[in-house]
Amino acid sequence: MSNYQDSLMDKRVVITGGASGIGLATALRFADEKAIVTIIDNNKESLDRVLREYPTLKHGIFADVSNYESVQNAFLEMDDLAGGIDILIANAGISVRSSFLDITPEQWDKVIGVNLNGIFYASQEAAKRMIKQENGVILMTASTNGLVGHPNYADYNASKAGVNLLARTMALELAPTIRVNTVCPGYVLTPMQIAEYSPEALVQVNEKIPLKRHAQPEEVAALFAFLASSEAKYITGQHIPIDGGELA
Ligand SMILES: NC(=O)c1ccc[n+]([C@@H]2O[C@H](COP(=O)([O-])OP(=O)(O)OC[C@H]3O[C@@H](n4cnc5c(N)ncnc54)[C@H](O)[C@@H]3O)[C@@H](O)[C@H]2O)c1
Repeated sequence: MSNYQDSLMDKRVVITGGASGIGLATALRFADEKAIVTIIDNNKESLDRVLREYPTLKHGIFADVSNYESVQNAFLEMDDLAGGIDILIANAGISVRSSFLDITPEQWDKVIGVNLNGIFYASQEAAKRMIKQENGVILMTASTNGLVGHPNYADYNASKAGVNLLARTMALELAPTIRVNTVCPGYVLTPMQIAEYSPEALVQVNEKIPLKRHAQPEEVAALFAFLASSEAKYITGQHIPIDGGELA
């Protein structure tokens, strides 16, 4: 599938958490659009495997987005490999199911560290470069969990709500040079999500989604491709749900 080659061809795209799930589907979609894709991930094994399996993914960098120094070094490496950045998809994230009363300070710090600090670090590194070159697009993976409450994910929900307001604020400060938006998926069938389900639970969740199924990662990737393209050049400061009707 490639619909946006006119504006995405040869664009330098960096995708965090690009070795699995939504990030990988997005990396492959941008590669189909003939963009120059760099993925950043902290799972060395997955990173090496996807680079081997998908030669259209140009570059892979091992880094932990929750560590500021690691992100700074990854961007320096990206400068060498890709020669800069036009589009950032700050996507790496984790979730842990726990009731609010059971969340330990360590778990809280870990989830906020990856999901919110990680997006801040990568976005700031990208924005510094984009301001200099006077253009760029920053997209982030938030969640419907950042828009309404969902039990047993207080830390995750807080991190995703933070991502949505970080994006809105960045969109105001960085306009008109850089567009900033978040994508808010509902339930997406990825390794992260599958890990949380028994087969019965999957059926139950599907039943409560108006479209009666989870999203495929490729459907979220298609929204990222549209938002990065010139077709979306008047869209900034938005959080865009893709949720099969869940929030309706
Ligand atoms: N799957 C869903 O239903 C769903 C719904 C809404 C939002 N999201 C969000 O989408 C994003 C991607 O999730 P997914 O479902 O594709 O998960 P996934 O587990 O399949 O992929 C996440 C990737 O991020 C990487 N990663 C994790 N921590 C990292 C770190 N500290 N540094 C660098 N890389 C790291 C992992 O190694 C993995 O490759 C996350 O931000 C998640 O919160 C997912």
